[in-house]
Amino acid sequence: MIMSPSVRKFALTAHVTSSVGWIGALAVFLAHAIASMTSADAMIIRSACLAMGLTAWFVIFPLSLASLATGIVQALGTAWGLVRHYWVIAKLLLTAIATGVLLLKLAPISTLESAAAQANFVTTDFVGLRASLLVHAVGGMLILIAIAALAIYKPRGLTPYGVRAQRQRMGDLADTVTAAGVAETPGWVKGAVMIAVALLVLLALMLIVGGHGPGAHLASHA
Ligand code: HEM
Repeated sequence: MIMSPSVRKFALTAHVTSSVGWIGALAVFLAHAIASMTSADAMIIRSACLAMGLTAWFVIFPLSLASLATGIVQALGTAWGLVRHYWVIAKLLLTAIATGVLLLKLAPISTLESAAAQANFVTTDFVGLRASLLVHAVGGMLILIAIAALAIYKPRGLTPYGVRAQRQRMGDLADTVTAAGVAETPGWVKGAVMIAVALLVLLALMLIVGGHGPGAHLASHA
């Protein structure tokens, strides 16, 4: 169902603020992850780990869910549709990947946060986990920036379903328009969608057979 202009603007405000807010919150997490790896001072490392826990649970996690939900509303409530344009599909897959990885990291982040709250925490505790969180935060940031760029550039390219939907909407006139739409689908858009699907499969394989699930880096606590 297509939203009225005022509802669409309201929903878009919610979508942009939650999505861009997610990028800002991840930047804060990243700063603390860097501090937790580069500082030699146990107090600074402990504070950074505590801040990472609070930021992840109370800011990043809710914003990621809000971004995903409002994005889907925005797609379904406008002519963009959820599966009509490759750029929307790419955004959906990449956001799902980013949210999935975040969900997997929340439990280890909590473990780190609890350990950092103890007075006997030493600078070498959970160093593998801290490094892993830093790497994942950098990767997540790159993915979120790519998603934001997709939203701004909105590269052309209709899916076969999008072509049929456009034909129905426009009648005979559509034949030339939609044929052009398909022909102009940039290779890199299809490439981005394929990379997103490959990442999703890789993530699933790492979880199922790779032993890379929650807690994989906790062993470094020694
Ligand atoms: C980190 C995740 C996301 C970020 C940073 C993000 C960012 C943005 C931004 C900045 C816009 C405004 C673009 C403009 O008006 O020119 C936008 C619009 C849009 N987003 Fe997202 N988005 C994200 C996730 C999603 C998801 C998961 C979907 C759903 C598949 C989605 C679907 C859309 C659609 C359809 C629009 C166009 C809305 C309209 O024209 O009314 N987004 N997004």
